[in-house]
Amino acid sequence: MSQKVLVLPGDGIGPEIVAEAVRVLDCLRADFGLEVEVEHGLIGGAGYDHAGKPLPDDTLAMAREADAILLGAVGGPRYDKLARPLRPERGLLAIRSELGLFGNLRPAILYPQLADASALRPEVVSGLDIMIVRELTGGIYFGQPRGIRELPGGEREGFNTLVYRESEIERIGRLGFMTAQKRGGRLCSVDKANVLEVTELWREVMTGLAAEYPDVELSHMYVDNAAMQLVRSPKQFDVIVTENMFGDILSDCAAMLTGSIGMLPSASLDERGKGLYEPVHGSAPDIAGQGVANPLATILSLGMMLRYSLGRGDLADRVQQAVGQVLDQGLRTPDIQSAGTRSVSTGDMGNAVVEALRA
Ligand code: NAD
Ligand code: IPM
Ligand code: MN
Repeated sequence: MSQKVLVLPGDGIGPEIVAEAVRVLDCLRADFGLEVEVEHGLIGGAGYDHAGKPLPDDTLAMAREADAILLGAVGGPRYDKLARPLRPERGLLAIRSELGLFGNLRPAILYPQLADASALRPEVVSGLDIMIVRELTGGIYFGQPRGIRELPGGEREGFNTLVYRESEIERIGRLGFMTAQKRGGRLCSVDKANVLEVTELWREVMTGLAAEYPDVELSHMYVDNAAMQLVRSPKQFDVIVTENMFGDILSDCAAMLTGSIGMLPSASLDERGKGLYEPVHGSAPDIAGQGVANPLATILSLGMMLRYSLGRGDLADRVQQAVGQVLDQGLRTPDIQSAGTRSVSTGDMGNAVVEALRA
């Protein structure tokens, strides 16, 4: 029986970049014997526009049925004044939570061809290959109580709660250790244990797990230092495991080491390997509709889907090689342009990846 892939383009540049990944997917079906059924659905602002909520019921039902989901991005200024439960970002948080996608893998890899596009000197980033393992369904994003309340006297205060159970920490911790086992064997747990009790518990649980993974070398780092070290000397890291919001921030920071946020894919996994795949970046309203967005993060997210959910690591390798080939050809969307390269559109870039696959 063929597996089901649900495609959720979302908002802003989402439809533009997802269209290119779908062309790659179509090529794999037509020419490489990939057997998948593909369905499309609405999420984010597009879901709100059509069904009145950012995660429409039929989208969630299709997502539960699917073996894997490819998502573009959600959000945009048009929706920023909506009541919070109706905002596009809530749709994304809801699908992550409803499907139990607690484990977010965000690899930051520097393609050697992009060493000049990085914000850092080539020698600082050449050969960079980090994996950030971000907890995705807990922490301050979901903790209760949350809200804005009026104090006696009329002043308002806003509040959110950063909370983790031991079992949630253990679950993401194990994913971190297992990821390190398959890579360089080094795991850095990032927390703020010097200030926050919840991350003191985080550190305790991580330390407790270490005995079960003697082949992994565990270290701990405070998040402020980690942000600094990522920019100072990023190659010291192999795998980073951290809580939801720290992981959100550190992964955007790591993205820039690779040349552009338009290069960073991600996988969000449940306990059985079902996954949602999306670029790390957002809907980029500033460039939406111009045909200039970089589709490679989305195409590489499809690559992660092939590896982690569809059991086709061979095709994932092909997709990664094809991306390397188009970079070798000097093709660049504006975000990764440097001297001597050729500026191409979103569509040209997708085309070039398909051509490289077929060659
Ligand atoms: P953003 O990632 O959308 O954009 C930040 C900057 O990076 C912009 O200058 C943008 O043009 C550029 N950029 C992003 N992706 C690019 C690509 N593929 N190619 C070239 N340039 C790219 O972040 P933001 O501006 O803070 O947020 C915009 C909207 O996206 C907000 O509504 C936010 O909530 C939403 N958002 C969604 C997701 C998601 O769906 N996973 C992630 C982050 C932000
Ligand atoms: C991301 C985004 C989301 C997050 C937002 C849009 C909810 O920034 O996927 O990195 O913070 O998780
Ligand atoms: Mn983010």
